[in-house]
Amino acid sequence: PKRIRTHHLQRFKQQQQKFAMLTAYDAMMANVFDEAGIEVLLVGDSAANVMQGRESTLGITVDELLVYAKSVVNGVSRALVVADLPFGSYQASPEQAVHTAVRFMKEAGVHAVKMEAHGATVPHVKAVVDAGIPVMAHSGFTPQSEHQLGGFRVQGRGEQARKVLDDARALQDAGAFCLLVEMIPAELTTELEAALTIPTIGIGAGSGATGQVLVWQDMLGLNTGRLPRFVKQYADLRSIITDATQNFRRDVVQGTFPAQEHTF
Ligand code: KIV
Ligand code: NA
Repeated sequence: PKRIRTHHLQRFKQQQQKFAMLTAYDAMMANVFDEAGIEVLLVGDSAANVMQGRESTLGITVDELLVYAKSVVNGVSRALVVADLPFGSYQASPEQAVHTAVRFMKEAGVHAVKMEAHGATVPHVKAVVDAGIPVMAHSGFTPQSEHQLGGFRVQGRGEQARKVLDDARALQDAGAFCLLVEMIPAELTTELEAALTIPTIGIGAGSGATGQVLVWQDMLGLNTGRLPRFVKQYADLRSIITDATQNFRRDVVQGTFPAQEHTF
């Protein structure tokens, strides 16, 4: 099947067709999602949480995320692979942003990068785009700014909506191919989708976006912690894996595995 490229996402919006994005961090899961038809795979810095067990995304390094990104690229043949730029690897200057984005393109072979961006970091986005690298901008609730935003809170309510809209237009003008919006009111997403020519992707942002994204461990029920309200659990992998694991252990303890057919 033909590889999904940024212009395909643009065409989805023009044809009022939705698309789906999931996170991925390793080759095998990426391959499953790719073959299931997921259009975009995100090597999110959420790897800090779901792969590394950290409390926040702030601590993950470029070198760590590069390993996951390379693995995902190795697992797909169709999906567009986007990698997050980790906290601290692009905020200092447009030059720093280009340097880090280039590493993800060269060393991992991803097809685009994602940057949490707002008015002040528009030049950083523009510099990366000018270097020939597609940028997905991430606004609304931006987890890397958790401490400045005062925790996990819905953004863009009331007066704040204007700023989200202005920033979104500036990010589009800077060349972002797509805008990911996290935890904003559904009406604001609908407004953004109408105001912009580029597609939006929502998470906790209602159904007005062209695309929707979830963290796969949330979507498939591997993560059992308290889940945000915007998560829909499509499977209960935790219990499937637990049952299988207990069965394996029971067979080993009882001496029924390995059986004759597993034995040379
Ligand atoms: O890191 C991540 O998984 C993300 C998505 C939740 C949008 O940024
Ligand atoms: Na992220």
